[in-house]
Amino acid sequence: QLNHPANVAVIGTGYVGLGTAGLLAHIGHRVTGIDIDQNKIDMLLRGEVPIHEPGLDDLLSSQGDRLTWTTDYSAVRDADVIFICVGTPPGLDGTPDLQYVVSAAASIAEYLNGNAKVIVNKSTVPIGTGDYVQRLLEDHTRAFDPTRHFVVSNPEFLREGTALGDSLYPDRIVLGGQMEALEIMTQLYAPLIDQTFSPPKGAPRPEWFTRPAVIKTSLQSAEMIKYAANAFLALKISFANEISGLCERVGADIEEVAAGIGMDQRIGQRFLQAGLGWGGSCFGKDTQGLISAGREHQYEMPILQAAIDINYRQRRVIIDKLLRHLKTVKGKRVTVLGMAFKPNTDDLRDAPTHDLISQLNRLGASVTAHDPIAMKRAEREWTHLNYTPASSIQEAFERADAVILATEWDDYMTMDWNPLLATMRRPLVIDARNVIRSPINALVEQVGRDAPRGERR
Ligand code: UGA
Repeated sequence: QLNHPANVAVIGTGYVGLGTAGLLAHIGHRVTGIDIDQNKIDMLLRGEVPIHEPGLDDLLSSQGDRLTWTTDYSAVRDADVIFICVGTPPGLDGTPDLQYVVSAAASIAEYLNGNAKVIVNKSTVPIGTGDYVQRLLEDHTRAFDPTRHFVVSNPEFLREGTALGDSLYPDRIVLGGQMEALEIMTQLYAPLIDQTFSPPKGAPRPEWFTRPAVIKTSLQSAEMIKYAANAFLALKISFANEISGLCERVGADIEEVAAGIGMDQRIGQRFLQAGLGWGGSCFGKDTQGLISAGREHQYEMPILQAAIDINYRQRRVIIDKLLRHLKTVKGKRVTVLGMAFKPNTDDLRDAPTHDLISQLNRLGASVTAHDPIAMKRAEREWTHLNYTPASSIQEAFERADAVILATEWDDYMTMDWNPLLATMRRPLVIDARNVIRSPINALVEQVGRDAPRGERR
């Protein structure tokens, strides 16, 4: 039986850790967020949030005493439930690097005592890591008692940019492990399952939402569900991208085709948006993770490899569209709008814009880039790329030979394009996200369809 409020420790203050800590405090628990990075903890203690995620600052700052931050692992001693939310970045061979999971497990082991505890893996970890964590705990401490200490897999399905809504109103909660532990997890999540909490500012409960499904499985199935879900979504996008290339060649329109097939409930409308392809820290890592897992068992996964190949081909598709109009980009000024891998985040990991800039660099273009939020981060992280950061959208357009719309930020969707286009050397726009809906005064290229016709067309 779990007390309410429960004592919860959340290890790791990245997207998943911050979201989990905020969510659990919001539904009433006493949460301690732990990170080994003193700078991050200092920021959080000052009320600053180290990442950009809409609504997260408000959620975290409104929790009062329910939420505290520390670098001191001893906080796990009093925790009923400990969440491991550390990063698992891809290692050199593409498989997730588990060093942070291993050190979190070792630190937890130091503070295990006779009290019952559930240790929850929320990081995306290779299948089999739950068992591995249990073994690490057993190896590190004699205090480990399999009748009181349990390892559970509780994968996260939130998307960056909409993390708050995704975690408060999830389609499903997946819990993998032994029954006793899953019962404790069900009690921990009761306010979320029954939706008895009051929605925080900025994340109202959607009208259509009732309650999440709770799916209880084995450890391995829960771990697999996470990978298979991301791989399937990546596959769906790559499928739309593959079809879009044929649409261009036969005169069909991918937007109409996606809408037409998506109306079949077995297929569904979402994640069929063709364009520049997927990026971000998850889809690439997880598809690659499954392929590597298959390889370990001498099992090939050709569909996933194809999804990855198609995804990277899409970057080239966009460059080819540019070359078709400009012939050569050498010395020409090409502007890329949007650097983050998707809108509403400053996350640049595996961002398609990175590949675009690097291909443009190789072709000798003079690249200008703009992003409403991610430019500062890019200055720190993309030092190996050659581009000029534009200090405003106006500056980004001035004297450009072409503009590539790479990330569909609201700022770009709602701005008045025509005055900006008038300042370009040649108004050529490659809309790599198929988001321009009405004619603008430019030659517009989209993916898998004819763009809305402007005056100059
Ligand atoms: C993804 C999953 O959607 C989440 O469910 C999962 O929890 C998360 O990974 C994770 O494993 O942590 P995320 O990477 O934040 O979330 O972003 P998505 O909204 O899924 O977008 C991924 C990429 O696909 C973006 O680059 C986006 O531009 C692209 N995309 C998305 C398309 O090209 N077409 C679409 O139709 C949808």
